Amino acid sequence: NKNILQDSHGRDHAYLRISLIERCNLRCTYCMPEEGVKLSPKSHLMTYEEIYEIAKTFVDNGVTKIRLTGGEPLIRKDIPVILEKLATLPVELSITSNAVIIDKFINALKTNGVNKINVSLDSLDASKFKHITRRHEFQKVYDNILLLVKEGFTVKVNAVLMKGFNDNEIIDFINFTKDLPVSVRFIEFMPFDGNKWDMSKMVSYAEVMTYVNNAFAEDKVERLQDAPNDTSKNYKIKGYKGSFAIISSVTNPFCDSCNRLRLTANGQLKNCLFSSGESDLLTTLRAGESVEPIIQKAVQAKFKVRGGMDTLEKLQEPKLHSNNRSMITIGG
Ligand code: GTP
Ligand code: 5AD
Ligand code: SF4
Repeated sequence: NKNILQDSHGRDHAYLRISLIERCNLRCTYCMPEEGVKLSPKSHLMTYEEIYEIAKTFVDNGVTKIRLTGGEPLIRKDIPVILEKLATLPVELSITSNAVIIDKFINALKTNGVNKINVSLDSLDASKFKHITRRHEFQKVYDNILLLVKEGFTVKVNAVLMKGFNDNEIIDFINFTKDLPVSVRFIEFMPFDGNKWDMSKMVSYAEVMTYVNNAFAEDKVERLQDAPNDTSKNYKIKGYKGSFAIISSVTNPFCDSCNRLRLTANGQLKNCLFSSGESDLLTTLRAGESVEPIIQKAVQAKFKVRGGMDTLEKLQEPKLHSNNRSMITIGG
């Protein structure tokens, strides 16, 4: 295969995450600062034609999977057209959404081949949901998860764990998978600009497993085979319809098998979730030039682990991650 995006550590990049919008209909505390973020002027955001053009260049260079993120990707007005355009590319198309309004898009998702949906939901308790998202939308999200399953989508539920806030819901979340074929993924809280991260607020992979081992007999807990390039370590409780997993980017990063690149809503390429360096694809595209050499160069420059923050000590240095964006404008 001549066109692959391989970095200097031998990793191939076949997965592109495209953030479609910097805004969201929720206000999660771990994702954005309370005062909000400075939004790009509209003229600096990629149009759907530009998204398609850039995505096509990635596909010509070996990308086979595209995930749409945000902010909340579904609040972008032209989302139906974006889905239609990207569905013409030979890729697996998927989306990460907070699911507040996803019931309006069931047909648009289906007709454009989106079969897998990742939904963010950090609590099964309506008042806690309100506290973390600063919005009263729990019931809609909950009902929409059930709807997605009923409509045949493969659903993963993302729960960012925070100590003293929702770690007491780990077992409730696992029991949620008893009769529902979803994968609940517990995510270690990660540091981004303005999210008041502190290692002590994080619930680690090891701590999750302690809760699990205290609640279930050893022979009930099954370690599943992880998919190649998976973000998560997957498990299930024997007899349950669904499964659960841990995304341990802090204590146990999966950088060795990383195959991801990110395109921000204002057309900047990020070669790693944690790298503050960005490559401006949009300006080049608008100047009528090819973005391909810039993409290749950016991939070459990718750090081996977490944008250079390879140790836990470095991850805890505020100045190292405060150069990065807020999560809301990266898209996870
Ligand atoms: P799948 O396609 O189902 O594997 O989805 P995903 O896990 O790649 O994406 P999703 O948007 O559901 O993200 C789940 C969590 O994983 C979020 O907290 C993301 O920030 C985190 N995540 C996704 N990609 C990366 C990555 O490249 N590096 C790190 N460190 N974390 C990531
Ligand atoms: N740490 C870990 N995960 C986060 N997400 C958002 N902010 C953070 C953070 N600080 C998750 C959301 C969403 C996914 C794309 O990223 O829960 O599901
Ligand atoms: Fe890839 Fe960076 Fe995430 Fe590691 S931290 S898995 S290198 S995006």
